[in-house]
Amino acid sequence: MGGNKMELKNVAFIGRTYEEYMAMFDLEEKIFTRGGPVLDCPAGPSSFTAEACTRGCQATACDILYTGGLYDLTLRELETRGRQDLAVIGQKLEGISHLFRWGYYGDKEGHMGHRNAALSRFLADYRDGVKKGRYVHAELPRLPFADRSFALVLSSHFLFLYGDRLSPGFHAESLKEMSRVSSGEVRVYPIQGLDAKPYPHMDVVLKLLELGGIRAEIRPTPFEFFRGANRMLVLKAG
Ligand SMILES: C[S@@+](CC[C@H](N)C(=O)[O-])C[C@H]1O[C@@H](n2cnc3c(N)ncnc32)[C@H](O)[C@@H]1O
Repeated sequence: MGGNKMELKNVAFIGRTYEEYMAMFDLEEKIFTRGGPVLDCPAGPSSFTAEACTRGCQATACDILYTGGLYDLTLRELETRGRQDLAVIGQKLEGISHLFRWGYYGDKEGHMGHRNAALSRFLADYRDGVKKGRYVHAELPRLPFADRSFALVLSSHFLFLYGDRLSPGFHAESLKEMSRVSSGEVRVYPIQGLDAKPYPHMDVVLKLLELGGIRAEIRPTPFEFFRGANRMLVLKAG
């Protein structure tokens, strides 16, 4: 095993913690306590929503695998899928550790510790969260939310990362939709692919956004795991 790319057959159902979201998106807690509702899109088994809600933030998570859609996975099926994908990621990391900066996590165990903690926290919150509308089925490039429902939309480890299989048109349509449901910013991280290289069609996507009247900028973030992944895309409300 080795190489210069994280080879993944499917979009992984793995998640990050609240702490990682704060670092990746360069956020301060006051943005939640003083701001409005936040959408995590797509959220997978991230514990961001569960943890943010306990801190008084009104957070919502959406994902294609949440209950209500075509897949309609049970809690147990989500757990199985999450644990299988974590095992795959753990294995794949072995051969490509040179693609990463380990400062934030320390080592592979530290990294997997965050992944496992996120999954457990997500699973513990999911059933109650579905009943209360915190976990919502959604299939990009469409979102089942009204215009300007959220003060901030966060999108991590989906668009751009899987740019080898999602078209520039899909990226632009998904970003336009995130922008539609936000009254503030949309932040997207990372903007590199599974080969750790910058997304090759960013100019096309930015042009399509501009044609749709959406202002976008690339902004630095102090977080970096994939080497060079220290920038995020930020869309601003028109
Ligand atoms: C790698 S996970 C990222 C989860 C989370 N944002 C994080 O960083 O912790 C990517 C997620 O995208 C979801 N997904 C894939 N295609 C989707 C689509 N068309 N619409 C909504 N979610 C999708 C997958 O189910 C998966 O949970």
